[in-house]
Amino acid sequence: MKTGALSEEQTRNNMDNMYRWTRHVYDASRKYYLLGRDRLISSLAAQDGELVCEVGCGTARNLVKMAKRYPHACFFGLDASDEMLKTAQGNLKREGLERKIVLRQSFSQSFRPDVLFDLQRPLDKIVFSYALSIIPPWQESIDHALELLPSGGEMHIVDFSGGEELPEGFRKILFWWLSLFHVYHKPEILDYLKRLEFEKKGTLDLESLFKGYSYRAVFRKA
Ligand SMILES: C[S@@+](CC[C@H](N)C(=O)[O-])C[C@H]1O[C@@H](n2cnc3c(N)ncnc32)[C@H](O)[C@@H]1O
Repeated sequence: MKTGALSEEQTRNNMDNMYRWTRHVYDASRKYYLLGRDRLISSLAAQDGELVCEVGCGTARNLVKMAKRYPHACFFGLDASDEMLKTAQGNLKREGLERKIVLRQSFSQSFRPDVLFDLQRPLDKIVFSYALSIIPPWQESIDHALELLPSGGEMHIVDFSGGEELPEGFRKILFWWLSLFHVYHKPEILDYLKRLEFEKKGTLDLESLFKGYSYRAVFRKA
């Protein structure tokens, strides 16, 4: 499938190239700047038996924490990169969670939970943690997630914000540094979620974190 400028195969190759080596130091390094992920996990409130999928799950760092915090919910993860999934699978094994969390290679804009995870009913919650900012077809990915969710289903998002309350110099260095990893603050994502709420497709709860460094959003489908 081709979305935007990149085909899915190109995305897969790009992400594999980006993470082939860095996946080994990913969790150790990212804990200093992917801020707000634990806040998303604590507010996820996954109920017993609910089906929760993290899109762009990376090393499965979040899925491991979610599965421990909500042991009676069911967790699934997908990622474009086979390389990342190797690390993720290793992490599940180390934590003894490989039977509890199912991981698959797929793409945010087109994944099919019924086929990938053999599910007979829709997902209840879809998580994007620092994923939309790296995904060029972010809008298709949001639309796709919304199509998959039932009425009352939720999208939980944490990602970079504009850092409006941070000192200007720090902000400039931060955005330059993030651009080295092809990561960009995309204000249009929040604008789009607000538009969806205005169009009565659902309700949006927003929380600004760490002086605007990141945001947490919950979009509940109407
Ligand atoms: C910055 S990492 C975040 C990983 C994890 N969610 C976390 O919070 O630690 C973004 C992840 O999104 C994946 N990704 C990028 N484009 C994707 C796409 N179109 N579909 C699925 N995953 C994608 C990358 O391979 C990478 O593992």
